[in-house]
Amino acid sequence: MTGEKNLEALLAAMQPVQRDGEYVYVLWPDGKPLVPDVAAAVREAEGLTVVLPRAVADREGLSYSFVGAWITLQVHSALEAVGLTAAVSKALAGAMISCNVLAGFHHDHLLVPVADAPRALETLAGLSARSSQAPRPQVLVRTEAPGDRESILALTAEAFAISPATGLPADGEPLEVKVLAGLFEAAEYLPDLSVVAVQDNAVVGHVISTRGWVGDHGLLGLGPLGVTPRLQRHGIGSLLMRETIKRANAAGESGIALLGSPEYYSRFGFVPAASLGVLPPDPSWGDYFQLLPLALWPGGVHGTFRYAEPFALI
Ligand SMILES: CC(C)(COP(=O)(O)OP(=O)(O)OC[C@H]1O[C@@H](n2cnc3c(N)ncnc32)[C@H](O)[C@@H]1OP(=O)(O)O)[C@@H](O)C(=O)NCCC(=O)NCCS
Repeated sequence: MTGEKNLEALLAAMQPVQRDGEYVYVLWPDGKPLVPDVAAAVREAEGLTVVLPRAVADREGLSYSFVGAWITLQVHSALEAVGLTAAVSKALAGAMISCNVLAGFHHDHLLVPVADAPRALETLAGLSARSSQAPRPQVLVRTEAPGDRESILALTAEAFAISPATGLPADGEPLEVKVLAGLFEAAEYLPDLSVVAVQDNAVVGHVISTRGWVGDHGLLGLGPLGVTPRLQRHGIGSLLMRETIKRANAAGESGIALLGSPEYYSRFGFVPAASLGVLPPDPSWGDYFQLLPLALWPGGVHGTFRYAEPFALI
């Protein structure tokens, strides 16, 4: 029987499962017949180490210090597979969880401190979900419906709980929630450009574009854009951006302006707005104020961008 060797496939399929009970490492006394409950053993020059249920060690009067939870990675890994142990240990170390690894013929097994078992399972599930071969969540993109508003505001609060501008926790309700609530009520609200991403009937992402201007030329002002934190970096933000660009082109809009990370938005074709003659409302925004010229971009548009009124809060 051959096992999986591809690291991303192993991570995607690893399915960590905790065995019942608590396990301990003991030094087996010389000459004492082994009991059938031994779960693993390593012979060294200094003696025989065995791993066995804590209750058995107690029954046999054997001493131990480390009490572990036993987690099995269910995927059938090839013994010559490279990197699984390193990836798992690194993820657990990042969560400050110590981990002893045992490789069986079929599976890898981890012994982590009992109290850390729930966090270890969560950390491993996250590692698995981030694998490039993990099944991507089925996400549908559609126009917001009246019943979505509460979920949209809640997900925006979650997404902006750490301010992307400062990297610090927001002080109370993030400003973006107030801006968004204002935009929903503003004259500049454009119903077809408030777009949600939905998974299993739950709103997991949202983007809105509202009317803005340079002089009397109408452009779109995009934002806020937010994705529920547990599903970030799964392509949902990109889906929402591409849908917005498609809808804006179809509606005959000429350009989309936004404030955000050039590293993220350049992948959709955004460039520093000033390079096209459109200046940010606040000069300190510099190249973070970006513009995507659409198919109908006329050129010759020069001046300072004006957002819809609720953006004054930013
Ligand atoms: C920014 C955000 C909307 C992106 O959505 P997402 O679904 O997580 O992103 P995607 O999966 O489409 O894209 C992931 C890629 O974008 C990059 N990325 C994500 N957020 C980024 C950011 N703030 N700056 C730079 N790059 C970013 C990732 O590194 C990843 O790059 P890769 O494809 O090269 O690996 C989302 O992370 C979010 O809600 N963040 C908190 C709120 C926020 O910052 N909103 C935008 C304010 S301008």
